[in-house]
Amino acid sequence: MFDQVEVLRDEALASILESCDLTGLEAARVRFLGKGGAVTALGEGMRSVAKEDRPRLGKILNELRQAVSEALDAKSRHLRVEADAKALAHLDLTLPGTPPPQGSLHPLTQLLDRAVMCFRRMGFAIADGPDIETEWHCFDALNTPPDHPARNEKDTFYLPDGRLLRSHTSTIQIRVMESTPPPIRIIAPGAAYRRDEVDATHLAQFTQMEGLYVAEGVSLADLKGTLEFFFRELFGSSTEVQFRPHFFPFTEPSYEIDIRAAALGNKWMELAGCGMVDPAVFEAICERRGDRVFDPEIVSGFAFGFGLDRLAMNLGQIPDIRMLVENDLRFLRQFA
Ligand code: PHE
Repeated sequence: MFDQVEVLRDEALASILESCDLTGLEAARVRFLGKGGAVTALGEGMRSVAKEDRPRLGKILNELRQAVSEALDAKSRHLRVEADAKALAHLDLTLPGTPPPQGSLHPLTQLLDRAVMCFRRMGFAIADGPDIETEWHCFDALNTPPDHPARNEKDTFYLPDGRLLRSHTSTIQIRVMESTPPPIRIIAPGAAYRRDEVDATHLAQFTQMEGLYVAEGVSLADLKGTLEFFFRELFGSSTEVQFRPHFFPFTEPSYEIDIRAAALGNKWMELAGCGMVDPAVFEAICERRGDRVFDPEIVSGFAFGFGLDRLAMNLGQIPDIRMLVENDLRFLRQFA
């Protein structure tokens, strides 16, 4: 029995040394130390040994197990180091790498970011609202009578349940006032939807940016000052801004804003709608909230809204609005 241990030790150590890869080494481990392995089998033979020899044999078997397992570990470390060295042998760290392709922001996003940054400097926070809206948020609360053409099914997308895709971002004015008492100073960029025939200047979905400022004593001068500052920040200090009287159901007085700037080809461009929030809008909000924090005798405010797509087109000399949504990389890379 003791001789057998010696023979097995030599055999095991030799076969571990001879293993030339990790698979061969694993086979050797199973062969000697595995459940049905040779070392285990020897242990089972203990029963046939004289009682007084058993402790000594047990000790020797333990030493054998220990020696084989240490040899396995050492060889395994050695094989791993060797494999790593082989894998790295042809690696030239001085070669230039392959740079990952770099993306860039969509021209519309670039314009939006600039606009948002400018309003944030003036203390406006960003507000949000759902694209699928109720008629109340899109029209009724905004003092738009049931027979107003914008409410027609020819102009607005209605869902079977009577809700609609918001036709302007002015819905967010209503959402914010419903939930937040004055003072309010927000901008709200987002998608708006209209049933337009798609052509070079129209899509059924476009991007608007809404603004609302409500507090005590907000005046028309605040509206003009804020928007003139904004357009000059965005398009240069020599930008001309013109407020042309207009009508919106939810502002009184109302204006359309035209601007002329070198960056926009030096021609007058109709850009935005704006005005002082109509008292009827505040009354609708008061009724909805069940309080008088938006009492038009106490607070006043201005609102504005403009489309970003046409602006981005003028800035980037983009001839067709559809290019903004086609995801053609040859087009988009020009704005990187
Ligand atoms: N919602 C208007 C539009 O889409 C723009 C507007 C916003 C006008 C806020 C006045 C005040 O045409």
